[in-house]
Amino acid sequence: MKSFRKLLRRLPFYGAIKSASHYPDYWYWKLRIRPGRTPHLLKQRALREYAEKYGLRTLIETGTYYGEMVAALKIYFDRIFSVESEHELAVRASLKFAREPKIRILEGESQQVVPELLKSLAEPALFWLDAGYYTWDGLHRNKQRLSLELNAILGDKIKGHIVLIDDASTLKFRSGDQPEPAGVAELQARLAARFPGHKVEVKHDIVRITPRPAS
Ligand SMILES: C[S@@+](CC[C@H](N)C(=O)[O-])C[C@H]1O[C@@H](n2cnc3c(N)ncnc32)[C@H](O)[C@@H]1O
Repeated sequence: MKSFRKLLRRLPFYGAIKSASHYPDYWYWKLRIRPGRTPHLLKQRALREYAEKYGLRTLIETGTYYGEMVAALKIYFDRIFSVESEHELAVRASLKFAREPKIRILEGESQQVVPELLKSLAEPALFWLDAGYYTWDGLHRNKQRLSLELNAILGDKIKGHIVLIDDASTLKFRSGDQPEPAGVAELQARLAARFPGHKVEVKHDIVRITPRPAS
């Protein structure tokens, strides 16, 4: 089974197969009375909802994978940047979206690419970050990846960026040399201290960081 999956992943249209499964996956999830894992379709809807609510036309994703989120949301944005650290996946996605000038796949480590990307933005963007991947390759590297990205985004000269983070339950939020904090509560405490103008909520395993409305 494992080697069959490995073989499937190598197919050039594997991303399309995955995308085609989003609707059945969603209905299966609904039928099973919403067990823990959040279907991709629901994540897509959350991104659209926040983009619409805050009038955002630029999407920045960390972790392109097979380009499913880019493919699903490209009609809703004027510009999409997606960052992927694995060379093979980055090349594959670059080829997939080569004919779409509004989409750019950037190969690199997101904690380095995101701060650079911010310098080139002229308006607020929607960020789709990945909580789970500091252990992606099993090496437990980039322990401060998420805090580096969040500090850069929320401290940016442009105010009004919205941040959604996938897989809240796998969140390992590490900042500086602090001892091993983990989880959403820690993230909330850290952000409340450093960026009090933002609120942090979680729904469907997605962390949602938005500006706190003026009281
Ligand atoms: C769970 S998948 C992302 C799913 C995708 N964002 C979506 O919503 O469909 C995680 C991806 O992050 C990539 N990745 C892991 N560490 C990374 C890093 N430091 N910078 C950029 N991409 C990274 C992995 O190679 C993998 O393709």
